[in-house]
Amino acid sequence: MTHLSSSDPPKELREVVKNIEFELESRLDTLALPENLLEAAKYAVMNGGKRVRPALSILCCEAVGGTIEQAMPAAVAVEFIHCFSLVHDDLPAIDNDDLRRGQPTLHIKSGEAMAVLAGDLLLPVAFSQLISETFTIKQQATLTKLLASATSDMVIGQVYDTLGGLPKHLNPQEQLEEIHRNKTGALIQCACEMGAICGGATEEQFNAISTFGRANGLLFQIVDDLIDLHGSTEHVGKATGKDEVAGKTTYPGTIGVEESKRAVQELQKQAESALSTLKSGAETLVSFNLWMAQRTR
Ligand code: IPE
Ligand code: IPE
Ligand code: MG
Ligand code: MG
Ligand code: MG
Repeated sequence: MTHLSSSDPPKELREVVKNIEFELESRLDTLALPENLLEAAKYAVMNGGKRVRPALSILCCEAVGGTIEQAMPAAVAVEFIHCFSLVHDDLPAIDNDDLRRGQPTLHIKSGEAMAVLAGDLLLPVAFSQLISETFTIKQQATLTKLLASATSDMVIGQVYDTLGGLPKHLNPQEQLEEIHRNKTGALIQCACEMGAICGGATEEQFNAISTFGRANGLLFQIVDDLIDLHGSTEHVGKATGKDEVAGKTTYPGTIGVEESKRAVQELQKQAESALSTLKSGAETLVSFNLWMAQRTR
């Protein structure tokens, strides 16, 4: 990453993001919920996220020969988990943030109890998306296992980030990587792997996508750390400059800005080269990976 310059995802993804937004909202609308809970859940989900994870599910599905429709249930599932993680991440007990996606966080708008409960709700809502006629029973089982494991890794990562408890044998740089791979990398890798499963990937294709997702997922959180350091709240839509004050373990804080940028560049290349065995259909995924390395919000 030479310079953080690109703020908008590649043009060809705008239509895909619109589809994802439509699906997220309509699936929330099918739920039989009290009005206040539905309103809170919609506030947590329909508030202008970049939709990186569902876009990855779709692009990875296409990269193994599948379609958008095949990937959609998994795409919305992973975004519901991500939105739940953000609502809880922002709570006073965790990062204590007032702004998310350019708007007051859910606990500021509706109170902490509702933020805890609306976050909780999104967890079963996410998993229920995987029970879909689009999938074979075997696909449903694999998707459920992948999402359950990544969600639990995310929670483990949030514990490491907020409360410590990392394995003692790891040196500081390994600890840093462990936090980031768990709290953010796992769900992104899972988004990619679920896309591959939805598209009926062969074992070789699945392994390529999995390697891509692992590198891309770590890259994503390193860039998030750099954005916290260099971005403006207005541009990013969330408070910046907070990681250092909060004493968070970050890439720039541990290995420095230049080394962090080098790590992003290296991971971007690693992710890209993992796709070289895929015959065709990975071009958009390659440019999305590049955008993810260069994004500024
Ligand atoms: C923010 O994720 C939290 C991290 C795991 C770094 P995103 O940057 O994908 O947030 P939204 O969904 O676009 O708001
Ligand atoms: C978030 O990491 C990881 C999650 C699991 C939500 P951060 O705490 O750095 O994310 P932001 O910067 O608040 O979006
Ligand atoms: Mg956090
Ligand atoms: Mg946070
Ligand atoms: Mg951050």
